[in-house]
Amino acid sequence: MTADTRHLSNRLAIDGGTPVRSTPLPWELPGAYYIDEEEKRLVNQVIDARSPFRFYGLNAQGMVDRLESEWCSTFGHKHALGVNSGSAALHIALAAFGVGPGDEVLVPGYMWVSCMSAIVRTGAIPRLVDIDGSFCMDPADLERKIGPRSKAVLFVNMSGAMGRNDRIAEICRKHNLRLLEDCAQAIGGSLKGRSAGSFGDIGIYSFQLNKNMTSGEGGLLVTEDEDLYKRCVALHDLGYARTAEGRLDPSDERYQYWGIGSRMSELSGAMALAQMRKVRAITAKMREAKWKIREAIKDIPGIALREIDDPAGDTGPVLITVYPTAEACQRFVEAIRAEGVRGPEGSLTCITMREWGMHWYFNIPSLVKKRSNAKEGFPWTHPANAFATDYSYAKGQLPVCDAMSERAALLTVASVLKDADIDDIIAAFRKVGNAFATYMKAAD
Ligand SMILES: Cc1ncc(COP(=O)(O)O)c(C=O)c1O
Repeated sequence: MTADTRHLSNRLAIDGGTPVRSTPLPWELPGAYYIDEEEKRLVNQVIDARSPFRFYGLNAQGMVDRLESEWCSTFGHKHALGVNSGSAALHIALAAFGVGPGDEVLVPGYMWVSCMSAIVRTGAIPRLVDIDGSFCMDPADLERKIGPRSKAVLFVNMSGAMGRNDRIAEICRKHNLRLLEDCAQAIGGSLKGRSAGSFGDIGIYSFQLNKNMTSGEGGLLVTEDEDLYKRCVALHDLGYARTAEGRLDPSDERYQYWGIGSRMSELSGAMALAQMRKVRAITAKMREAKWKIREAIKDIPGIALREIDDPAGDTGPVLITVYPTAEACQRFVEAIRAEGVRGPEGSLTCITMREWGMHWYFNIPSLVKKRSNAKEGFPWTHPANAFATDYSYAKGQLPVCDAMSERAALLTVASVLKDADIDDIIAAFRKVGNAFATYMKAAD
């Protein structure tokens, strides 16, 4: 008996029928499942050497150095710099571009709070840009929003897949804008053979627990530009370069900044190095499962799928589906959850995008209310930012984001799904899809 005939005739679980499955799906923590002896070996090497600091120590092991050079050779970048989070990497990159008061950074309304935070903390103003069917920044809306204040574009490869990175890069070149590519959610991704992170002036990644690989906390940035790299080195540390012996070197006038203290420790470096060597295997597993599900559900009436131009470059951790109405979306998600397509208690395995919190611009309280870390309201009150006094970040600014936050849903695709789990997910989609077709007809 195949997975779908097993269940298709069943009454929906939400209406009292038998669910497709009863055990929760695995957690949405891709790298965590792959932590094993290799992470232990490299981390222990640092501990045994009693040298957790990257620049010097009793017997420094050079783990962060190795991570950076292997990252460059694996993914094809010139310079890489390990840092202590993706959020820090975003801030460092924008500061290296020289972004500040009087500038706008164009940013999609579907992103993560860290993107807005990085822009605001440099003193610049976020300019919202809508997404398209790729769930990443819409190149056409970007062109509409570029204005005299535009200094940089922060493009985000959302939910594991790339968007129209090549077109965005072309627009940035045409308008002389800096491009920062946020690949926190798409480590190992690519578009037409070109790695995530190589489309902009700087690319950043995060190694936080939910990402394709993890060191618990951590991040990395890449660039082809030596001067930008040196600025980032100074900014991520204490504002200055270091000597070959690892001591601060304030002598070079070009690299005298205020550093933000975001160095990567050797412990994180060791763990990230072990995980980086596995990330292709991790993403291959998720991609294969996700595309099997996509293929099997693509013809279900009433369900549309996120547009992904290059399936081979998708990293696979998230399946996004789109429904005709907000109500249909809610009902569908509730119904497949009832069929057992859900994760352990506290997970975000199967949710409507309404539940996706600060991934949507209007769900970020500090943005909507223009909050400040400083008493006098910087950067919103800065005279150079007076041009943005009337900017609003309340819901209603971006039609596609606003609609997708209501009509789209996501299913996280764990890195350890078994064939039986995949079959169950497909069976649940088909079972609910069948009933859904009847429901949609009745709603017509
Ligand atoms: C798109 C995006 N950018 C930046 C970050 C920030 O990374 P971190 O949590 O390492 O600061 C994250 C993840 O949290 C993210 O999803």
